[in-house]
Amino acid sequence: MINTDICKLLNIKYPILQGAMAWIADGNLAGHVSKAGGLGIIAGGGMPVEILREEIRKVKNITDKPFAVNLMLIMGDIEAQIDVCIEEKVPVVTTGAGNPGPYIEKLKKANIKIIPIVPSVALAKRMEKAGSDAVIVEGTEAGGHIGQLTTMAVLPQIVEALEIPVIAAGGIATGKQFAAALALGAKGIQLGTRFIVAKECTAHQNYKDMILKAKDRSTVVTGASTGHPVRVLSNKFTKEFVELESNGASTEELEKFGSGKLRIAVKNGDVENGSVMAGQVAALVDKEETCEEIVNDLVNGLQVELKRLKDSYC
Ligand SMILES: Cc1cc2nc3c(=O)[nH]c(=O)nc-3n(C[C@H](O)[C@H](O)[C@H](O)COP(=O)(O)O)c2cc1C
Repeated sequence: MINTDICKLLNIKYPILQGAMAWIADGNLAGHVSKAGGLGIIAGGGMPVEILREEIRKVKNITDKPFAVNLMLIMGDIEAQIDVCIEEKVPVVTTGAGNPGPYIEKLKKANIKIIPIVPSVALAKRMEKAGSDAVIVEGTEAGGHIGQLTTMAVLPQIVEALEIPVIAAGGIATGKQFAAALALGAKGIQLGTRFIVAKECTAHQNYKDMILKAKDRSTVVTGASTGHPVRVLSNKFTKEFVELESNGASTEELEKFGSGKLRIAVKNGDVENGSVMAGQVAALVDKEETCEEIVNDLVNGLQVELKRLKDSYC
């Protein structure tokens, strides 16, 4: 039994969220995570509305348990995406890349819980004030677009500063790390990288194999000079990107070079020229499992760890 404020708020069995991942977190992955007792999240950022509706319906065909849609607020037709979430009675929306303030009232009226992703104390406070139900704090260890602060350092600061529940993301893949997040005051966890190798995840096998083979120093951060840093596994693409960056390429040139690169890695399996986004915990991910096995392993791992701590130190 793990019964936290997040389980109550979201009506889920375990406070384990599968983070949105562009091109990866579709209705199939989200549906299987929700079916296993966590909260699956569809990466809706920039998705055309009719495709978003199809992905939502895929989840509903797999399970009647709660799930979420992630919206990137600077991408695509946000108003239309929100209307689809309302029409389809999506229970939870997570948001990134922008301020959800203008949409919160509309979402609340439709009984949708709203959970922004934040990298800092100031933004977390602003999101609480705007009426969010909870926040996801994402540390720089995470895969994909990142902030500057580590989960270990910023999570307890945000927990201290807010009244609403806080979910920890970035650098979590095991029961021990789940226990650490709860010890730091989180009421739930969000994982991205570990769910990429889930058996139900449709990412190309080459992408999964790179995560399975990753070591402690396999990730690098590209794009810091553009103000949009991204954590990815090191490959030919990152070497060329870093070379362009150090030769003083403009933001425009770098953005053009990076454009479409996640898609070719995920969909075509081009893990040399593509952007293989993954977090530092890739080094801890060493087997492919079903979503149910991953969720159960996290829950069991947490319980083993809590018992070990109690037996050792109390
Ligand atoms: C390939 C990839 C794509 C991602 N895309 C998104 C996204 O579209 N929206 C979002 O809010 N977060 C995105 N993230 C962040 C994840 O939702 C999650 O917070 C993060 O992966 C957690 O850290 P971890 O990788 O250490 O588990 C992405 C992460 C990865 C690895």
